Amino acid sequence: MSGQTIKTEITAGPSKVIGASLPRIDGPLKTTGSASYASDYHFPRMVYAVPVCSTIANGKIRSLDTTAAEKLPGVLLVLHHGNIGPLFRFAGHGRNSEDRPPFEDEVIYYWGQYVALAVAETFEQAQAAAAAVRVQYDAEKPNVSPVLNDKLAGAPHTESKRGDTDAGFSGAPVQLDETYSTPVETHNPMEMHATVAVWDGKKYTLYESSQGVMNHLNVLAQVLGVPKENVQVISKFIGSGFGGKLFPWPHSALAATASRRLNKPVKLTLSRKMMFSDVGHRPRTQQQMRLGATHDGKLLSLEQHYRNHTSMTDNIRENCGEATPFLYSVANLSVTSALVKRNVGTPTPMRGPGAVPGLFAVESAMDELAIKLQMDPVELRLRNDTLIDEEKNKPFSSRHLKECYTVGAEKFGWSKRTPAVGSMRKGDLILGWGMAAASWGAGRGACEANVTLNSDGTAYASCGTQDIGTGTYTVFAQVVSDRTGIPVSKIKVVLGDSSLTPGPTSGGSTATATVLPAIVAAADDAMKSVIAIAVKTPGSPFVNQDVETLVMSDGRIHAKGQTAESGVPFQDVLTMATVAYASGDGKTGGLGSDTKAHDYSTHSFGAQFAEVEWDPGIARLRVSRVVCVIDGGQIINMKTATNQVAGAIVMGVGMGLLEETVYDPRNGHPINDNFADYIVPTSADSPDIDVTFLDIPDPLMGVYGARGIGEIGLAGVAPAITAAVYHATGVRVRELPVRIEDLLTARV
Ligand code: MOS
Repeated sequence: MSGQTIKTEITAGPSKVIGASLPRIDGPLKTTGSASYASDYHFPRMVYAVPVCSTIANGKIRSLDTTAAEKLPGVLLVLHHGNIGPLFRFAGHGRNSEDRPPFEDEVIYYWGQYVALAVAETFEQAQAAAAAVRVQYDAEKPNVSPVLNDKLAGAPHTESKRGDTDAGFSGAPVQLDETYSTPVETHNPMEMHATVAVWDGKKYTLYESSQGVMNHLNVLAQVLGVPKENVQVISKFIGSGFGGKLFPWPHSALAATASRRLNKPVKLTLSRKMMFSDVGHRPRTQQQMRLGATHDGKLLSLEQHYRNHTSMTDNIRENCGEATPFLYSVANLSVTSALVKRNVGTPTPMRGPGAVPGLFAVESAMDELAIKLQMDPVELRLRNDTLIDEEKNKPFSSRHLKECYTVGAEKFGWSKRTPAVGSMRKGDLILGWGMAAASWGAGRGACEANVTLNSDGTAYASCGTQDIGTGTYTVFAQVVSDRTGIPVSKIKVVLGDSSLTPGPTSGGSTATATVLPAIVAAADDAMKSVIAIAVKTPGSPFVNQDVETLVMSDGRIHAKGQTAESGVPFQDVLTMATVAYASGDGKTGGLGSDTKAHDYSTHSFGAQFAEVEWDPGIARLRVSRVVCVIDGGQIINMKTATNQVAGAIVMGVGMGLLEETVYDPRNGHPINDNFADYIVPTSADSPDIDVTFLDIPDPLMGVYGARGIGEIGLAGVAPAITAAVYHATGVRVRELPVRIEDLLTARV
């Protein structure tokens, strides 16, 4: 459909295992409770650490008195600014969450900032000691204002620019100029952050809940000031992260420091309250959208001027304009950004950072434009679709957004929609139907993997990446199985250990695309090793044959052009040769190092269709149905992929209707820092979800043509919901989440 030809890298033929709906291979370990998460590790002599959190959000520590705490039973150590000793700033390869090491000085920048760490024999003793640390502050009024209209020091930063938006907008017969806001959202994975730090006299072993064991190693070695070989990071199972666990947070270095100081293993687990202050959040955004169009819906000008809040200590830009420059064809475009400082913890990526809040603004504005034009919102998007990335002036490697719209509209029943507000009913309920486009980047990083084929007929695959709950273990086994013919049940996958070959951070929806070519190369290399052994082993049916004439398929070594049945199981060859296993290594290069990739723009796309039910009698709003169509390249595992996107849609219901972290303007405390007051959607809030993958391989992405699908499922959900809310009620909500108070002015 995209009308371009790319020399394809897709070499994989039809497969029984690639694309199959396989259950997670680690599922039984999780459901039987035998999967070890970070805080499940216990060691002899282990002690417990509890942070002391600041109760002001702006000011200075005047005095910190640990005398009473140190006298309590079981207390071993209270660390603070005065005795922490040197921790170092991170300046190297990778990324840390906060620039500043913990306890660097006595200045307080946000509520909950760690000011001390109490360590004791038991968790309860450590909690009591933390509570007994007396801290006096010189407090100043914090600035946690959700309104980001601050006067800027300089001009906003230009993110993207083409044509002349001033002329384009002022000359446009149809204009829209509105501002949209998205709130602070807090990552609330089931598993909270934790570190179990074990100093053994030479080396730190850190059991973490981390989305990137290799990055964690690189950062912590530098922060602790030790060589990389003196740190090992283990993260075998993760109860999700949503971006909050991409980069290390200060508790990890604190636990490591306490372990070294006491020469004992130290366990530090964050409370749900600390999760709201100390380990990042999606920053608040405020985005002005200016759209100009012709009467028949051709975009003439598109502007997005956004601001996001950041912390006093770090400059974190939420990349709200990620998808804006290439989503639609438009000659005049301008995207600018600006940062506004607040007394909050440092923001960090949350699922679909930038694009997700950014698309709330872009897609809400498109919906409002469609209404001004009295045009169907799907039709408006079809009229402005493009197969060229007009920012880079390059074709897309694979873009099938039009098909996402048409397939989604068909599945949703969009043709039955009547556009007038409140015009669709289901009994006493008013139905609202809305839709939005989705986009997220597609990338591929560098990776090395190892595969061994074992003499007992099993295989083993390993890599220094991790599975954050998304199915990475399973994808590894599927690819090894696809290459070698060894059944998935006989393949053991080892991940989540920084001592393995370097693997990617599970972030940016890039892990699958990154690991696939490395696993393929490693499996192929291991099969070559078996063949090399086969021709050298006396008594082997292949002895002295040319390796070039042999292949391995369906788990057997045989002559090229012959069936697998004619051959010999690989394990028989290894057994005959008294070899324990044949090993293979494989490497993936990043997309950036692929010269062919420079000629194309590579992204994933999607369309979201949402139905809300509005009950005006009791002011009740529910998202009842979501149809989602994703163009994410070839899908490796239909079950885990569908889970990912369905989960993202539930998260989108949270973003649309429920989630918001609220800071008390008097003291900067995130006052809803618990699960009673910060509402996340549960089963009862979950709509009927219909997920479709176009499953069209991206010719640029390697052997299988897979892009990532971890984040795109969230993009477009919230604006589809608010469009549906408008359709049902006539109320346009431009500030998320939708509140019942907003809807009390409903026209119907
Ligand atoms: Mo994602 S926000 O890169 O975990």
